[in-house]
Amino acid sequence: MEAIMRYLIGIDLGTSGTKTVLFDEDGNTLKSHTVEYPMQQPKNGWAEQDPEDWYRASVETLKAVTDGIDASKIAGIGISGQMHSLVLLDENNEVIRPAILWCDGRTAKECEEITELIGRERLIEITANPALTGFTASKILWVKNNEPENYARVRHILLAKDYVRFRLTGEYATDVSDASGMQLLDIANRCWSDEVLEKLDIKKEYLAKVYESAEVTGYVTAGASKLTGVPEGTPVAGGAGDNAAAAVGTGVVEDGKAFTTIGTSGVVFAHTKEMHIDPKGRVHTFCCAVPGEWHVMGVTLAAGLSLKWFRDNLCKDEIAVAETMGADPYYLMDKEAEQSPIGCNKLLYMPYLMAERTPHLDPDCRGGFVGLSAMHTKRDMLRAVMEGVVYSLRDCCEVLKEMGVTSEDMAACGGGGSSPLWRSMLADTFGMKVKTVTSKEGPALGAAILAGVCAGVYPSVQEACRSVVKTKTEQAPNAANGAEYEKYYDIYRQLYPALKDTYIDLAKI
Ligand code: XUL
Repeated sequence: MEAIMRYLIGIDLGTSGTKTVLFDEDGNTLKSHTVEYPMQQPKNGWAEQDPEDWYRASVETLKAVTDGIDASKIAGIGISGQMHSLVLLDENNEVIRPAILWCDGRTAKECEEITELIGRERLIEITANPALTGFTASKILWVKNNEPENYARVRHILLAKDYVRFRLTGEYATDVSDASGMQLLDIANRCWSDEVLEKLDIKKEYLAKVYESAEVTGYVTAGASKLTGVPEGTPVAGGAGDNAAAAVGTGVVEDGKAFTTIGTSGVVFAHTKEMHIDPKGRVHTFCCAVPGEWHVMGVTLAAGLSLKWFRDNLCKDEIAVAETMGADPYYLMDKEAEQSPIGCNKLLYMPYLMAERTPHLDPDCRGGFVGLSAMHTKRDMLRAVMEGVVYSLRDCCEVLKEMGVTSEDMAACGGGGSSPLWRSMLADTFGMKVKTVTSKEGPALGAAILAGVCAGVYPSVQEACRSVVKTKTEQAPNAANGAEYEKYYDIYRQLYPALKDTYIDLAKI
């Protein structure tokens, strides 16, 4: 008798758009649909989105992938999404103000307040991280301090993907990996920290219930079913923050494995069975999607965002040509960057467009080109942007190494991971093989695998990864190129310390 192949759905609620993918049990993509939305920047360093845009995009993409299929074969849904972004709901579940995003740096003052109230060491002991502007706790305090009339209306505090879950299932739920990024979770014990909540005066009842990533958190309601085409009663898994979900989608679920992603942000992520914390707080330690295990990751805030910024402001011609060819402008930009040599004729780029976390933890720093000459062309600038992002990711690797978290198995994912040029830069600069996996769906596949575990399609996250995730290409490092990049990386490392005070002066104006 032939076994019935079931479907799994992964939703990836990103910063530039939501992508929903329909997979079969073997992890093959059957259908995929993306809907983009804007990010508002009302002030320099601020970043907001409308949660309604996320829900609309989720409904539209779910509708697109379920259209014309036998929906009764959908075993479950998993959601992954941008981490840390704050959604506040009132007693009628209405969104109170635009969501304040992970890459918004307005909360330096609130971070000082958190450190003072809890104590730096104790905060790191409980939440495994120092107070960071990107994390949700400081965003909650910012609303409390600056918009008391809004804060008075708060009844529920949710993260981005958990807002969409709420609209699909009616449940206020989150998962351990995403909850880790709120800075309210006791990371060792995988539950809300009463001590942190009390000291910050945040009511526990406002927070969602915490689940492991592969647990069932709720079921699609009749109303959501009508809108999306997903049958009522379909289970929705805890899911994971986009990075923890990408780890599952690339098979990074055991010690020794790591991945680098170039999405809007850039991340170097390593799985750790035991909890490891950087006492200097330069990389994040979070619960991962494998029950009872953790991960460490370094985050550079404007990776793909740097290239997107360059495309949108300086590549109008490439966009127009790409349109006539039916190609992706990034493909043409890659080809142009390839024509500039390593080091871009002595041009360096700092990718701090949205300030920086790893390794500088500085909400005031900003990006820049250094070494510009009249001989430089756009292609040098393009390549410099790509190299600068890679140097920033190398900074993340250096911190992990310093902590004793090493890996010989590195996967590349995210939009940037699909660029052969960017991948070769990673391999040469890290001095290690960089592979890609067959599915390019990273977080969406990870979310779907978690849905599969919660629906009983797979026995465990690790076993699912073993059968579903397959290596596709492997890029070996080129030692001569590596030596050339090293010269520029050494100079790149001197830039931030040299400019640190300048950024503070600029921020003060
Ligand atoms: C992780 C982080 C980013 C977002 C991007 O800490 O802030 O990677 O999750 O979506």
